[in-house]
Amino acid sequence: MSGKIPRQFIDDLLVRVDIVDIIDSHVPLKKTGSNYTSRCPFHNEKSPSFNVSRNKQFYHCFGCGVGGNVITFLIEFNHLSFVEAIEELATAAGVEIPYENQTNFEPEAKNKLLDLQQIMAKIATFYIEQLKQHSQKKIAIDYLKGRGIQGIIARDFMVGYAPDGWQILAPQFNNIELLCEAGMLAYKNEQYYDRFRQRIMFPIRNKRGHVIGFGGRVLDDSQPKYLNSPETPLFHKSNEVYGLYELLKKNARPSRILLVEGYMDVIMLAQFGIDYAVAALGTNLTATQLQLLFRSTPEVIVCFDGDKAGQDAAWKAMDAVFSVLNDDRQVRVLILPPAHDPDSLLRAEGVEAFTQRIEQSEMVSAYFFNHLTATLNLTSIEGRAKLAHQAKPYLFKLVNGNFKKLMLAKLKELTELEVIVPALENSKSSDYTEKNERPSLPRWTLALLVQNPILSEKLVENPIDWQVLDFAGIETFKKIVQTICAEKPATTAQLLEYYRNQPKEKMLNTLAFLPIPLPEESIEAEFIGALNQLILQERKNRLDKLQIQADTVGLNDSEKEILKNLLQPMPR
Ligand code: UTP
Ligand code: MN
Repeated sequence: MSGKIPRQFIDDLLVRVDIVDIIDSHVPLKKTGSNYTSRCPFHNEKSPSFNVSRNKQFYHCFGCGVGGNVITFLIEFNHLSFVEAIEELATAAGVEIPYENQTNFEPEAKNKLLDLQQIMAKIATFYIEQLKQHSQKKIAIDYLKGRGIQGIIARDFMVGYAPDGWQILAPQFNNIELLCEAGMLAYKNEQYYDRFRQRIMFPIRNKRGHVIGFGGRVLDDSQPKYLNSPETPLFHKSNEVYGLYELLKKNARPSRILLVEGYMDVIMLAQFGIDYAVAALGTNLTATQLQLLFRSTPEVIVCFDGDKAGQDAAWKAMDAVFSVLNDDRQVRVLILPPAHDPDSLLRAEGVEAFTQRIEQSEMVSAYFFNHLTATLNLTSIEGRAKLAHQAKPYLFKLVNGNFKKLMLAKLKELTELEVIVPALENSKSSDYTEKNERPSLPRWTLALLVQNPILSEKLVENPIDWQVLDFAGIETFKKIVQTICAEKPATTAQLLEYYRNQPKEKMLNTLAFLPIPLPEESIEAEFIGALNQLILQERKNRLDKLQIQADTVGLNDSEKEILKNLLQPMPR
């Protein structure tokens, strides 16, 4: 994917820009020792565990475990694509990207995205105009009035009107192909026609404010009630939520976000002053959607209608919830009274009562166990066994931490079962536990090299004799060492770039921020020492094996020779 921008250019760019400057312009950094720190922009925290290293050109958060080079930072922080991140860096460095020619797919794809973005923006504007000037506008306006939507709110959310007609967009925008790709036209019987007709239009904007799709509601009770944009290069329903841009515009760091089911709910909540609501787009809640929310808030309240469908959806949401929960994040579950959604409930009981419901909503831990135990008889062994069985897959998803420990303790208390706990406790290791473990010698050696790729010079002067090494994972070790020796990356950041989207990416990232509490000047000696140590270890293994063999079944001549060599002092 990244092949279309020359590798060499990316390497150069990573040397040219300074991660400290780039991050500092987004998140103010403070110099502490040899590093720069701040409160982590990717999770909510009180004390700064977000570290940026100028030497390594690398950032890492010891709290939530994120990390990477400056490209990763821009992708994550600004929600950019890889190419967009490179473009931003190129601009910052004042250089032009020398796109590779012809076979080159990416700039074209990139332009296509820009074209799509532009046409979507124009269509949204066009639909808003129709609400103001179309000859049939009265029907739409009356509908909105009937639902009690005020003009200002309609404006904030860019609500529009798709008039009743099959051929409205094509003559207006004169680009059938692009309209199709944007998901605005449908095709049947060799005819293109407008997908959205006679509907109230709700533009869906991404976090950066670009219109990426639409939801359209009928004006009567015909079906389907809502039509959504199909998947397009711009719009991936399961990665987006409705209303997030509008929400963050009012408050970039809300203390909580309310996740509801419907477009109309978001709009009515905002109108009642609850301007921190978003909606999943008519799909099961996904982990990606939740991650998106947790980047801006420490607490998400998932709110579902009181009907059977809503209750089922709430439970279904637990799949996503449990895979993103950690000790810094809180989820609550609010299930509304039967036959109500936020819109109807707000109008029935007012904003005070609704806010109260939010405040009193159940913690996910309570909801989880209440839901599971509601239909079980915990006085029977069968009931308790079933509870353990049903709870396990969810608890398995949790990262290690206090929340997980407490959930396990609760399960133990409810089931009176001892054995599930140890089986689950190590199911998923998080950065928190990993970083406290003493790394193995090969891992330590590799981390030294990954964090100080300049050490590869030592290896060129004094190549490793692979014959005398053997340990678990040696193949990976060898590949990484060879890559470093061949590519000679200037910094860790550059090395990591070679591994972006590769199977070993994660492993390399972990090595890159494995704590090495050594002063700069002793790194080299430590590395050479570690290598020798590895060789010694293997010698000792072989020696032990041969001596046992000698004492038991005996050695043949060549084995005796090897043993003799091994017993000699090691050459320097
Ligand atoms: P609801 O049926 O609860 O809609 O669907 P609502 O938001 O309360 O709508 P109003 O109040 O009647 O206008 C909730 C959400 O499910 C999706 C939409 O995202 C909707 O907002 N949905 C619903 C569809 O995608 N298609 C449908 O036909 C119905
Ligand atoms: Mn509704």
